[in-house]
Amino acid sequence: MAFASLQWIVRLLVVLIIFQGVCVMFYYTTNTHSSRDAMTETLQQLRCAKLRQKFSIIKPAKSINFKSFTQELSDFMSCPYKSNQTERELNRIRLQFCCNATGTFILTKRNTADNQSIPYETSTTKTYKMTAELHSMLPEDIPWSGRRLGRCAVVGSGGILKNSSCGREIDSADFIIRFNLAAVNDSDVGMKTDLITVNPSQIRYKNLEKNPDPLLEKVSVYGNASLIMPAFAYTFCTSVSIKTLKVLQPIRPQQPVVFFSPSYLRTLDRFWKGRGLREVRLSTGFMLISTALELCEHVHVYGFWPFGSDLQERPVPYHYYDQLKPHRYMHKMPEEFVRLLQLHSQGALTLHLQPCSSPGADLENHL
Ligand SMILES: *[C@@H]1O[C@H](CO)[C@@H](O)[C@H](O)[C@H]1NC(C)=O
Ligand SMILES: *[C@@H]1O[C@H](CO)[C@@H](O)[C@H](O)[C@H]1NC(C)=O
Ligand SMILES: *[C@@H]1O[C@H](CO)[C@@H](O)[C@H](O)[C@H]1NC(C)=O
Ligand SMILES: *[C@@H]1O[C@H](CO)[C@@H](O)[C@H](O)[C@H]1NC(C)=O
Ligand SMILES: *[C@@H]1O[C@H](CO)[C@@H](O)[C@H](O)[C@H]1NC(C)=O
Ligand SMILES: *[C@@H]1O[C@H](CO)[C@@H](O)[C@H](O)[C@H]1NC(C)=O
Repeated sequence: MAFASLQWIVRLLVVLIIFQGVCVMFYYTTNTHSSRDAMTETLQQLRCAKLRQKFSIIKPAKSINFKSFTQELSDFMSCPYKSNQTERELNRIRLQFCCNATGTFILTKRNTADNQSIPYETSTTKTYKMTAELHSMLPEDIPWSGRRLGRCAVVGSGGILKNSSCGREIDSADFIIRFNLAAVNDSDVGMKTDLITVNPSQIRYKNLEKNPDPLLEKVSVYGNASLIMPAFAYTFCTSVSIKTLKVLQPIRPQQPVVFFSPSYLRTLDRFWKGRGLREVRLSTGFMLISTALELCEHVHVYGFWPFGSDLQERPVPYHYYDQLKPHRYMHKMPEEFVRLLQLHSQGALTLHLQPCSSPGADLENHL
């Protein structure tokens, strides 16, 4: 009797041990699964935070190894973007305080007086005396500064836009800035434009006054977008810019020709140089990104990529719209790009360096 119950107890114990073993195994396997996922996710988050930190204090560097930099940048660009409203507002206030695009971005009747002497942007001695005729052709006020612009797309001409499929995303922005009468394209760069720069060297038409048709054809592609010219950057820019304004204003009044205020660009130049940017003159692209940082809620930057190959190390042309050979790997990290990367890491603007996903894929990522 005592023996039988002992046998029973032993059997019960064996069953219990096996059962527990199964439970432990089961517990163990399910737990490793989720803990491995959690671990991967945590590691990923840590890596993203580390890269974000690294790029937000990145120094303009000759010493960065391009290859390792590309890998890290590619990894970072796959991290979720973190916008920082404080950072955006700080930049807006700093830029407003120094340069005031809101009041001085372009020359207007309001910020410029008849007979006023306009100092050239790049000269300390040369000035232009505003004439009554030109003054009468200036816009009353800056059309974009009355309200905060929402989502702005600043579209550079970098070859990474080729085959990017970013057209739809760019066209969905509230305000779109382009450069140098660059080609528009449904699939890669979008069709809409609100503001586009014209380089005076692009106005090379004979008898423009008598035969404006080639110019009209060229600019009408951009619909009602304002054409902005650096009329007072260098003295050679002035007459061709004024001529363009005089020719287009009567024929296409819906498409204004406007002039950068040289004093605005000067203060902007001083602002960035005071923050360690070392170059002769800011690029027009960088200037207008700065303008957008002041005037827009969110700034999205496309096609700014000064390197000869993309993040997947495939060669890219220098421009998306022509066959110009890329510069070989740049010797020196272009300073403006490093600055943009810094602003992106800080959450002040969004830099787009990868092809845009189709709306379907985007939805999947969010689900
Ligand atoms: C946002 O930027 C501000 C100002 O640079 C900084 O103090 C703050 O820590 C940032 N917030 C986040 C979540 O990174
Ligand atoms: C910017 O300019 C506008 C128009 O001239 C002016 O009303 C405004 O006070 C200026 N803002 C700053 C911060 O100087
Ligand atoms: C501008 O200068 C011209 C000649 O120098 C003068 O006749 C005209 O009254 C001036 N206009 C203004 C608004 O001061
Ligand atoms: C873009 O795509 C076309 C056709 O698929 C291909 O021939 C071309 O090499 C691609 N260009 C770039 C810069 O990726
Ligand atoms: C361009 O301006 C004209 C005249 O003001 C207007 O009729 C037309 O709708 C505008 N087009 C667009 C695309 O805004
Ligand atoms: C423009 O779009 C077409 C397809 O619609 C594409 O084949 C071409 O490469 C694009 N060109 C540029 C410069 O993006």
